[in-house]
Amino acid sequence: MAAVRHIAVLTSGGDAPGMNAATRAIVRTALAEGLEITGVVRGYTGLIAGDFRPLNARSVSNIIQLGGTILKTSRNKEFFEPEGRAKAVANLRERGIDGLIVVGGDGSFKGLHALTTEHGIRAVGVPGTIDNDIYGTDATIGFATAVNTALESIDKIRDTSSSHDRVFFIEVMGRSSGAIALLVGLAGGAEGIIIPEMPFDIDGLCETLRVGRERGKESFIIVVAEGAVDGGAKTVAELVQERLHLNYRVSILGHVQRGGSPTSYDRALASQLGVAAVEAIVAGETDVMAGVDGWETRLVPLPETWEKKKEVNLDFLRTTAITAS
Ligand code: F6P
Repeated sequence: MAAVRHIAVLTSGGDAPGMNAATRAIVRTALAEGLEITGVVRGYTGLIAGDFRPLNARSVSNIIQLGGTILKTSRNKEFFEPEGRAKAVANLRERGIDGLIVVGGDGSFKGLHALTTEHGIRAVGVPGTIDNDIYGTDATIGFATAVNTALESIDKIRDTSSSHDRVFFIEVMGRSSGAIALLVGLAGGAEGIIIPEMPFDIDGLCETLRVGRERGKESFIIVVAEGAVDGGAKTVAELVQERLHLNYRVSILGHVQRGGSPTSYDRALASQLGVAAVEAIVAGETDVMAGVDGWETRLVPLPETWEKKKEVNLDFLRTTAITAS
């Protein structure tokens, strides 16, 4: 296999805090390895449209601390069709680019896998999503920051909850994963956590609220993962309300969880994974994701990242139930 000489980097799917730190690490590692490096604007949309930008060490100065992604991002349907990928490959070949690094989630990885198997472009994925739902890595870039952001909001909502003796049903993001809900629920001292990985137990939740009130609790926080129940926190609140008549409010935290300056963990994780991704591509690897096991970086075949299920720590539910009583 010929040595890689010129690689491109793009960010794809939902933005996640730390994507810029990953871009910075990828660019600077590529330059240290003697490679040419090009940025693709707006993810797969820019790859298909030919929206490319040369990058150098200074292009990524002062971005390690920034949320969002300077390369911009998109969710692109065309790339999931062979015609879209053919256009993308033509753009890469025209510029002499023989390797591609994509920072994104599992949807982005599916497209990347198709690109590399169909066209032989060397491809490495870097897990960037707040959801932490990718198999093969302990953490995805952005998860830690999103959890801290949600936690700050929950701490503030707790003030209102206790001042008004209210039950708050707080919806957090995570798509079909309960990873964010579990961590913020436990760390935020919630009385209940509802996640997609466990069947929704309305009887159990009502019992928790009833027993809590009997024990003198006057306010409650119930964290609901957006993918746990159709209709999210609003539905959970309405179902509870049909049985217990409560003073309640629903709060949907939404996209605030995606923004803001990355935590130290996300900056370090993004830097480690960015370096590992470039080193992998230089070593001739392709169709893999760079992930972490603790702080040790590892390469995982791309298809495993979505075919295998990332487990969440269900023991957090037990810890929450014991400590919130
Ligand atoms: O994957 C990240 C995420 O924020 C999910 O938690 C959420 O379900 C989704 O993206 C929202 O996507 P959009 O910003 O496209 O509405």
